[in-house]
Amino acid sequence: MNSTIALLHDRLSAALVAAFGDELAGTDPVLVPASNPKFGDFQANVAMSLAKRLGKAPRAIAEEILQHLDVADLCDPPEVAGPGFINLRLKTEYLEAQLQTMNQSDRLGVEPTKHPKRAIVDFSSPNIAKEMHVGHLRSTIIGDSIARILEFLGHDVLRLNHVGDWGTQFGMLILHLREAYPDALTTANALALGDLTTFYKQAKQRFDEDEAFREKSRLEVVELQSGNPETLSAWNLLCEQSRLAFQEIYELLDICITERGESFYNPLLAGVVEDLEKLGLLVEDQGAKVVFLEGFTNKEGNPLPLIIQKTDGGYNYATTDLAAIRYRTQQDHADRIIYVTDAGQANHFAQVFQVAGRAGWIPEGVELVHVPFGVVQGEDGKKFKTRSGETIRLRDLLDEAIARSRADIEARLTEEGRTESEEFKAHLAKTVGIGAVKYADLSQNRTSNYIFSYDKMLALQGNTAPYMLYAYVRVQGISRKGDIDFSNLGDRTISLQDEMDLTLAKALLQFDTVLTAVEADLYPNRLCQYLFELSQTFNQFYDRCPVLQAEEPLRTSRLILCDLTARTLKQGLSLLGIPVVERM
Ligand code: ARG
Repeated sequence: MNSTIALLHDRLSAALVAAFGDELAGTDPVLVPASNPKFGDFQANVAMSLAKRLGKAPRAIAEEILQHLDVADLCDPPEVAGPGFINLRLKTEYLEAQLQTMNQSDRLGVEPTKHPKRAIVDFSSPNIAKEMHVGHLRSTIIGDSIARILEFLGHDVLRLNHVGDWGTQFGMLILHLREAYPDALTTANALALGDLTTFYKQAKQRFDEDEAFREKSRLEVVELQSGNPETLSAWNLLCEQSRLAFQEIYELLDICITERGESFYNPLLAGVVEDLEKLGLLVEDQGAKVVFLEGFTNKEGNPLPLIIQKTDGGYNYATTDLAAIRYRTQQDHADRIIYVTDAGQANHFAQVFQVAGRAGWIPEGVELVHVPFGVVQGEDGKKFKTRSGETIRLRDLLDEAIARSRADIEARLTEEGRTESEEFKAHLAKTVGIGAVKYADLSQNRTSNYIFSYDKMLALQGNTAPYMLYAYVRVQGISRKGDIDFSNLGDRTISLQDEMDLTLAKALLQFDTVLTAVEADLYPNRLCQYLFELSQTFNQFYDRCPVLQAEEPLRTSRLILCDLTARTLKQGLSLLGIPVVERM
């Protein structure tokens, strides 16, 4: 299916050249959605911007463009309005044909990209032996959705979990493990650390309080780095334990991701230092090896250093990211690397990207993007904590969402006098509960902070997952009530007779434009907003227009609109990582 905007764009460009000559080749026709549906569907505002250059009145320019504009197959005769807008209204027959194509396509008319890229989405990335927190939840949900959208558009996506599984903190963890759980290293499966956060806190406390423990921890780090097999197996044990906990969350959220943690790049770090040195970028600064940054200064206005190798010879978070950039471009052949982390890491990525660029490690055409997001806040607007001030465990947070969704379902079923099986209720509670958490996160502009509210995200009204699921279920209800097999309507004719039919049709045809926008700027909230508006339009349509009661051929045509709405919602939600249900 050809995007209508792209078609109109091309036709306008051709008309500009035909009217005013080759100098206008490539001039942007400034095609935008109409400011008011009264004026049509799109408007081209180019005439105003050409007035000076051509020395003519904008209205006259617009008239001249119109004389050369050939859109008869797409639009009603265009009109010039106001100071020189060109108003375009899509023809009903054109919309009908577009919908027909959409209906016959199992991708809803969204063609795979003509320029597939090798994309890496670096997301989730929790730290070993620490609990995954809400920040990691955001990264997981947003990163997964971005990956799903890029995959659907035909890109080759590698989903990478850059877990924090290396670094000096392992010294104290391994030492504490050795001392507090001596059996763990010799007996298989003897380890059940249970709550790793507590384990981490205990180790940290000893590290902070006990000088001898500190000293021994440092020696463990040295052993680990030099590859002592026994130390490595202790390290492995800790990683395994964490992995189990992470995996539990990924399964609940239906997340697919490949682990390639920081330790993976460990053998490549010395090469980074060596090459930066050869390039003359590395400077000794108070015993450390650093690169001085451009555009980052301290309070005195002096350039800030990015530490590549510390005084003690150890490497940094940034060193690992530099090695990862080299590996991902050279071995994975990535041409778009997307990092999904909280906005607090914006400087880190800007600095790492700068150094990689200056070192010549970002090949031509490769794009590195940091996708930042804001913090999750409690309903009091403060940092999200439990009542007693502890950080909330993700598992608890998700279980609570499911439990609350379950309570809502029970109450609604009682109210409606319905009895449903345990299986039905449990499945619905999980789908709605998890879907609501994901949707609440994705529907916000990711750069802003957002307030976590179970009540809001589980509400049946508003821009929520339950609202969207309900619209989907409503369509399935039509099929049950009218005994309609939607899959049989593929070859039937669509006729858009009412204003409401047209409005819904136009909303449906926006799907691919929205996905293209997310592909470019990586804001999944655009897709949420689209699905929300589509559901609203559908609900208005269904409240105002008879469907099953309508006369043929309108009845079939409307049934197709209903089915297309459901299919678009299902596909759209699945790109957000949210499955639908057939009944609620
Ligand atoms: N482990 C880091 C954290 O918890 C996130 C890693 C993000 N990815 C990266 N390549 N730096 O904050």
